[in-house]
Amino acid sequence: MSLEKLLAWIPTGSPDEALAREIDFDRLPSHIAIIMDGNGRWAARRRLPRVEGHRAGIDAVRDVVESSARAGIDVLTLYAFSVENWKRPAGEISTLMALLKRYLRLELNTLLSNNIRFHVIGRAEDLSADVRQELQRGMAKTASNTGMLFNIALNYGGRTEIVDAVRRLVQSGVPAEPIDEARFSQFLYTAGQPDPDLLIRTSGEMRVSNFLLWQIAYAEIWVTDTLWPDFRRHDLLEAILAYQKRERRYGGITSAPVALGAK
Ligand code: FPP
Repeated sequence: MSLEKLLAWIPTGSPDEALAREIDFDRLPSHIAIIMDGNGRWAARRRLPRVEGHRAGIDAVRDVVESSARAGIDVLTLYAFSVENWKRPAGEISTLMALLKRYLRLELNTLLSNNIRFHVIGRAEDLSADVRQELQRGMAKTASNTGMLFNIALNYGGRTEIVDAVRRLVQSGVPAEPIDEARFSQFLYTAGQPDPDLLIRTSGEMRVSNFLLWQIAYAEIWVTDTLWPDFRRHDLLEAILAYQKRERRYGGITSAPVALGAK
C-alpha cells in the first residue's frame, strides 16, 4: 500500500523508483526525526543572504513531509527552531517565523489531502500571537486526520522539555504509582508517541544539538553531507534503506544465543 502511494508520486524509471522498490515496507521506522541543518551554508555557497537558505529549505520540508506520509511513516518530527536560536539576528528570526506561517497557510491542503495531523512540540507559548494563531489553526484543521503525525519542534530544547516534564509531574501532585520511564515519558511533549527509530541530520555535523534527548536513547543516527535545502525524497529513501541494514540491539547481544545443550 505504501509502495503504491509512493510510486504514484515518483516518475517511472527514475532512480527514486529503484530506491523505493528496495525498501521493506513492513520494517519502516515508525518515527523519523530530522535535524535540518546547513541552510546558512547553502546560501553562503551561492553568495546569498542566510535567509535565502531558509526559504529554499521550505522546498525540502514540503518534499520530505509528503514523501514520508506516502511511504507510511507514522511520525515525522522536524527541528525548525531551538530555544538557542533566539541568539540569531532579529531579521533572521522574523524571516523564519514568516516562512513558517506561510508554509502552514500554503500547505494546509497538502496536509489535509495526505491525511496528515499537524502538531507542535516546544514552548509554543513564548512565540508571538500571530505565529501561535497560525499553529493553532493548522492543528485544529488537521486534528481529525488519522495518517502521519507531523511534529514541528519550535522553541524546542531537549533539556527544557525534561525540565517542563518534571514541573508538570510535580504540579500533578503525588503520583498514585511509582514513577518509571514509561510514566515519566507521558509528561514529555511527545506523550503517547513512539520514540524516534531514525534520527537524520543534514550537513555533516555529528551532534544531537539538544534534540529529543530522552526520546533518541535508542535511535539509529544517519548523517548526510547534503545541506538541508538540497535534501529530497531520494535522500530520505537512502536514510530508510541504511536504517533497514542496521542491526538494532538495545544494549543486548548481536543474535539469539544457541540454547544451552543444543546439539
Ligand atoms: C539550520 O540551518 C536550520 C534552521 C535553524 C531552521 C530550519 C527552518 C526551516 C527550513 C524553515 C521553517 C520550517 C518549517 C518546518 C516550515 P542553519 O541556519 O543553522 O545553517 P548553517 O549551519 O549552515 O548556518
